[in-house]
Amino acid sequence: MNFEFQNPTRLIFGAGSLSRLGEVVSEYGQKALIVTGGGSIKRSGIFDRAVVSLKGAGIPFAQCAGVEPNPRISSVVRGAETVRTEGCDVIIALGGGSTIDAAKVIAAAVFYDGDPWDMIRHGDEKLYVPLKALPIIAVPTLAATGSEANSTAVISNEETLIKSSISNNCLYPRVAVVDPELTVSVPKDQTAYGVCDTIIHVTETYFNGIGGTPIQDRFAEGVILTAMEWGPKALADGTDIEARAQIQWAALVALNGWLQVGTDSSRPVHKIEHTLSAHHDVTHAAGLSAVNQSWMRFAAKTRPERFVQFAQRIFGLIPKSPDDMDCAMEGIDRFEEFMKSIGCPTSLSEIGIGDELFSRYADDILFLAKDRYGNLPGRPTMNRDDILELLR
Ligand code: NZQ
Ligand code: ZN
Repeated sequence: MNFEFQNPTRLIFGAGSLSRLGEVVSEYGQKALIVTGGGSIKRSGIFDRAVVSLKGAGIPFAQCAGVEPNPRISSVVRGAETVRTEGCDVIIALGGGSTIDAAKVIAAAVFYDGDPWDMIRHGDEKLYVPLKALPIIAVPTLAATGSEANSTAVISNEETLIKSSISNNCLYPRVAVVDPELTVSVPKDQTAYGVCDTIIHVTETYFNGIGGTPIQDRFAEGVILTAMEWGPKALADGTDIEARAQIQWAALVALNGWLQVGTDSSRPVHKIEHTLSAHHDVTHAAGLSAVNQSWMRFAAKTRPERFVQFAQRIFGLIPKSPDDMDCAMEGIDRFEEFMKSIGCPTSLSEIGIGDELFSRYADDILFLAKDRYGNLPGRPTMNRDDILELLR
């Protein structure tokens, strides 16, 4: 296990943190672009509170509103144009993961005269690798992606129907102002999807890593157990700030890189989901949940010992041997029951996806990521037939 790790995002965490936004922004710039989603934060009053804090610090701002869930490259183009015409020098992302992701790519697109889509990785093409970005201050309003403290952005191209990502050091937010109070207005379904996304970020690493990473395993199990304990509490009472805080912290550490160090893991379930949302605009974690348990059953056949460990440590099952397949499958069944209990779909038909385009999805998934043998990276890797079988 060899690795190098640095996460430069400064965290300001806790109820009431939003009031520090103006003070924080003033350390990084003089005029802000505030990037927001489809209107939830204006309805909930979060936007007005952010403006009070900015005005208190004397920070003027322009706006890029209306970033879509599964954010589109056209929103990035629009945001970068506003930065240029308004002369902004710092970006505030105020919203869910979609808003934060769009803000990241806007921050880098400002320094590139070409099409911002050139930055997004798909297939072997890397047309432009950004070298710098404007400072980004991320203020998440939904606990899910952990985008507020990582270097990744996921963007959709509405013309080519490709949804793919960029990861680059210049995209780490300088500061994440994480205020659980901002998440009390998140509806039940999005709360559940956030819990699901958090857990699957961890399980992707846990099951696709190299093994021989006991500390990362224990961290991962801690995040999974925390999300499974506090997620249902946040669902039962959306105003429970302690539950909101625990799931927001879990979401952040699930994907800030700390659990992933040294594991050499890939994210096959995410690649599959990104293709499904590119075609059907499904909510990210609904798509994940619909395919994840089938992927687990597929992977358990070649790595039963990882799934036995999961069954034992997450659900307290007692295996008969380290590769007890019945125990491995029982653990996956229990996990699926948990997903159903919080309202997450467990099949493609539940999210309205039929089998008409399976062949196209398989091609697109392999277009997003493939190893030198042409297979989807993961442990085990998947060939085209495996992907088709999984979708079925
Ligand atoms: O758009 P608005 O009106 O703000 O409503 C949003 C949206 O409808 C709503 N919402 C957000 N905060 C709210 C709220 N509603 C009420 N009260 C609040 N406080 O929730 C809906 C979903 O928002 P979105 O930002 O799309 O959700 P999420 O945070 O789950 O982000 C999903 C996107 O992130 C990508 C996904 O693929 C998807 O595009 N991912 C980004 C990652 C990253 N950057 O590291 C990793 C992930 O694996 C993921 O792929
Ligand atoms: Zn995810």
